[in-house]
This record gives sequence, structure tokens and C-alpha cells, in this order.
Amino acid sequence: MGRRAGSWDPPVWSGPWAGLLLAASALISCLQPVPAQTSITIAPQSPAVGGNVSLAPQPPPQDWVLCKWFRSAITDENRRILTYYRNTNPAQNNGSAHTGRETAGSGCALNIAGLKLSDTGNYTVQVDLASGSPPILTVTLSVYE
Ligand SMILES: *[C@@H]1O[C@H](CO)[C@@H](O)[C@H](O)[C@H]1NC(C)=O
Ligand SMILES: *[C@@H]1O[C@H](CO)[C@@H](O)[C@H](O)[C@H]1NC(C)=O
Ligand SMILES: *[C@@H]1O[C@H](CO)[C@@H](O)[C@H](O)[C@H]1NC(C)=O
Repeated sequence: MGRRAGSWDPPVWSGPWAGLLLAASALISCLQPVPAQTSITIAPQSPAVGGNVSLAPQPPPQDWVLCKWFRSAITDENRRILTYYRNTNPAQNNGSAHTGRETAGSGCALNIAGLKLSDTGNYTVQVDLASGSPPILTVTLSVYE
């Protein structure tokens, strides 16, 4: 059993299909690549104590494998809030900086509920993609009285 690598016949690049294939591949190259994340949006922008906030990488990551959120301006494992896995159950692994109020949301967003003044500070996200180097972004959250 088993097929030998390279034993199949190569496709014939002629006839009416060739033009269609070229048009299709030109379209695909227009749609790709998806740009890497460049910023983090805070919603609402000025959250109040007791409220909820969502920190979301923009544009939303596409071919992500996992996202790590840190309560820090750097990717410090001792300050990790959570890791969010796309294909693992459970999807959320809480780190030592998790306070019981943080959950991962769609698009690798970090949702923090029941905000406290002490939640003011820097948050960093590391998005690991199936391809390419991981973009690392930091945002400063301010919680208001
Ligand atoms: C992580 O924290 C969330 C939010 O508090 C909680 O629902 C979840 O059970 C925790 N996950 C684990 C594996 O402890
Ligand atoms: C804040 O989040 C908590 C937990 O996810 C939820 O129960 C509550 O309804 C939210 N509050 C607001 C104002 O959205
Ligand atoms: C956020 O990080 C910047 C740069 O490291 C630092 O100057 C600033 O003090 C930090 N802000 C808070 C609230 O920790």
C-alpha cells in the first residue's frame, strides 16, 4: 500500500481552465495576507469602577492558535492573566495574575468584569498565529471612579 510521493500526474496548465485558475489565484492573493494586529481597542473607552471592559486586538486575529494576556507592559509569565486556546478544551487557562473576573472572548478579547481602581495599568497580549511571528501589543487601561 501507500502512494509514492510525486507519483501523480501534474495538472495540465492549458485550455479554458488555465485562465480561470489564474483569475482565482489573483483574487486569493488580493484577499491575503490578513494584516497582523496593530492595536488594542478598549470598550468602553473610559470604564467605571464596578463596570465591565473589553480589550480587543485589532484587526481581530484570523489564523490564531493561542492568545496570552498579561497584567504587565511585557510578556511576563508571573503576570499572566490567562491563555486562550483555539482548539483545546478547556479553552481558557488561568494564570497567576487572574483575579476571577477575567474571561477570554471572541477575537482573543480580554473581558474584565467588576472593575476595580487597581485594574488601572498596562495589559499586554501575545497572539500566536499559525504562520508568522507573534505580534505583541500593550495597552494602558484607566478605570474611573
Ligand atoms: C478561569 O477563570 C474563569 C473566570 O473566573 C472561570 O470561569 C474558569 O473556571 C477558570 N478556569 C479554570 C481552569 O480554573
Ligand atoms: C458585567 O459582566 C458580568 C459577568 O460577565 C455580567 O454578569 C454583567 O451583567 C455585566 N454587566 C454589564 C453592565 O454589562
Ligand atoms: C505602563 O507602562 C509604561 C511603559 O512601561 C510605564 O511608563 C507606565 O508607568 C505604566 N503604567 C502603569 C499604570 O503602570
